[in-house]
Amino acid sequence: MTFNTDPADSAVPDETPVPAPADIVTVMVCSSCRAEDGSDTRPRPGERLGEAVRAANDDRSIRVESVECLGNCKRRLSAALVKDGGWSYVFGDLTLENAGDLIEGARLFQTSDNGLIPWRGRPDCLKRGLISRIPPLSMLKEQK
Ligand code: FES
Repeated sequence: MTFNTDPADSAVPDETPVPAPADIVTVMVCSSCRAEDGSDTRPRPGERLGEAVRAANDDRSIRVESVECLGNCKRRLSAALVKDGGWSYVFGDLTLENAGDLIEGARLFQTSDNGLIPWRGRPDCLKRGLISRIPPLSMLKEQK
């Protein structure tokens, strides 16, 4: 499946099927995360991680977005994996070398049929770097 996230390509006809929204996993990379020394040098490491994740998404099967602070600033570079109808995950302690791991985890998540990122096969940084996971709203029972 291909999901075209590059606005520059939007004028180019793309005959590749676009997956239904429920199938799309989005990797949100915090572009605001700074270097460990707190320097404000641009591009920030978070911006560089976002670019590296886009480069690792060579088949464009995953949606990649840069976002502002994910509220996880003390745990180095941060990213979230989100899927409609699935759990939402926040990860920290990432490095620039984890760009491919984020795409690998997103692809695992994309093929999961229970709304979870499978533990087996999940890149190590997405195991030890897990900050939180949030269930989909559809899982919550209505309260009276
Ligand atoms: S600046 Fe990246 S999580 Fe806050």
